[in-house]
Amino acid sequence: MKKLIAGNWKMNGDVAANAVLLQELLSGVRDPACAIAVCVPAVYLAQVQVLVTGSPIELGAQDVSAHEAGAYTGEISATMLKDFAVRYAIVGHSERRQYHGESDAQVAAKVGRALAAGITPIVCVGETLAEREAGKTEEVVKRQLAAVIHANGHCISEIVVAYEPVWAIGTGKTATPEQAQQVHAVLRAQLKAATPQAQRIQILYGGSMNAANAAELLAQPDIDGGLVGGASLKAPDFLKIIAAAH
Ligand code: 13P
Repeated sequence: MKKLIAGNWKMNGDVAANAVLLQELLSGVRDPACAIAVCVPAVYLAQVQVLVTGSPIELGAQDVSAHEAGAYTGEISATMLKDFAVRYAIVGHSERRQYHGESDAQVAAKVGRALAAGITPIVCVGETLAEREAGKTEEVVKRQLAAVIHANGHCISEIVVAYEPVWAIGTGKTATPEQAQQVHAVLRAQLKAATPQAQRIQILYGGSMNAANAAELLAQPDIDGGLVGGASLKAPDFLKIIAAAH
């Protein structure tokens, strides 16, 4: 399976900096062995769409509304994202769950909206440090993924999953390749029970992935790519991670 390296810019960037970053990325990614995406703040989708069209870099959003259309001030629908040729949408990132109170049910509904619009949701799951220390890692990630599987049934083979341990995000503390692989294997088994196509569902790792640790993480049998935060904002680092994904 081709790996996927997706950058999550989070709430970073401006028009000038985006143009420079993308120019550096585009000149560095000729003939990549993996799929590549940048998930940019919604206000920059139009700008980045123009810059990446015709290149190997695909466009992603960082969230999508659980509603179809109508009186939902501030929300952005899946069909609006589709208007800008958005290929991926991150859904249920731990920062959305934590700071915006997103529930498993809301995340599942968002996944449904993305799939209905032909956008591939990158569904994030992951445990907090307290949950890991309490031995609840498996229980938490399985509960988060189960909600998405339950609500989206036969379409589930169209999703991408991202395992992002909350304690590893932006902290410089990466899960060891063994720790990550262990959880990825649990998620793969759960997907296998839900669809005969589980083997082709990409399961990404996210959480302090960088140029130095990417190769080792990506060498694990069930790690099919990366969801990269901080290191996706520096072109040389992101390019090194892309080069490690083959
Ligand atoms: P960092 O790579 O900055 O730890 O962020 C990971 C992440 O949250 C990607 O979605």
